[in-house]
Amino acid sequence: MVQENTTQVLIDKAQTAAIVVRLKGGDPFVFGRGGEEMQDLVKAGVPVEVIPGVTSGIAAPAYAGIPLTHRAYSSSVTFVTGHEEAGKYRPAVNWQAIAHGSETIVIYMGIHNLPYITGQLQQAGLSAKTPIALVRWGTRPEQEELIGTLETIAAQVEAKGFGAPAIAVIGNVVNLHETLSGCRPQFLGETRGDCGTEEKLARYRQIVQHKLLDYAKVKPSYGDVEVETVFDTERDHYQIMHVGWNQERLIHACTIHIDIKGGKIWLQWNSTEREVAEDLVAAGVPKEDIVLGFQSPFMRQFTDYAVS
Ligand SMILES: C[S@@+](CC[C@H](N)C(=O)[O-])C[C@H]1O[C@@H](n2cnc3c(N)ncnc32)[C@H](O)[C@@H]1O
Repeated sequence: MVQENTTQVLIDKAQTAAIVVRLKGGDPFVFGRGGEEMQDLVKAGVPVEVIPGVTSGIAAPAYAGIPLTHRAYSSSVTFVTGHEEAGKYRPAVNWQAIAHGSETIVIYMGIHNLPYITGQLQQAGLSAKTPIALVRWGTRPEQEELIGTLETIAAQVEAKGFGAPAIAVIGNVVNLHETLSGCRPQFLGETRGDCGTEEKLARYRQIVQHKLLDYAKVKPSYGDVEVETVFDTERDHYQIMHVGWNQERLIHACTIHIDIKGGKIWLQWNSTEREVAEDLVAAGVPKEDIVLGFQSPFMRQFTDYAVS
């Protein structure tokens, strides 16, 4: 449907329905024609409000492990379209200015014009070796990534038959993809790829298991106390529980749950989590790799029970 017709449908529907939702991908105001549609609706006297979204230019790189800014690599970002319609208010993107305007460049709708764009950026003085990432179908299970440089990427796209919709990210932040690409949320039915090196994870598993075995030795001083340990190495879930019983009645339960996911150690919220975190830091785990306050699947079963 051409844009004029879409806007007319919105105006017509607004006359007949209490609420009309115009749902768009990403953010409606970022290359989404949200501004134009709202102007027309306001002109037609239709009360309208906007709800912002996460634009694909931010979400797709994030899911590919590419932070757009990073204190070591980039303190500025430009969002630009690689596809322009005839008759726009300016004839063309000024690639010369874009090349030098910021350290990270994010390009929407740039796949078809990629040979032209990468050529323009190199002519403007960017190194042929400047890293570039293409993220196709970002945040969806079929997400694909293609990593190259300004001089190689067009041929890679051709060779792979890589198509739209994709976001292109240019700049040194692309190099972080190598270490961070496994750190996005899991897609449904997917088993998680590792985030960070296998050596790091192996070390964390060892530290966590040793610590939990230490805690298992410390029993509360009253009653009959059973100690239960669960080391589910397949799911990287580790747990110890001290359970005190008095004639079939639970008088004490103290549990520590630890999950290792995405290269980080997740501690279950409970009264001891800060102390456990301090112990892990003392054992050599960097503070930034410890996340406090997650709810373990074990606890969630009770929460779900309470809710239902
Ligand atoms: C007309 S623009 C719409 C942008 C949208 N308003 C937003 O904020 O993401 C369409 C372009 O957005 C990008 N895009 C949208 N969804 C995408 C996705 N899931 N993965 C990668 N790029 C996407 C592609 O560059 C595509 O050509």
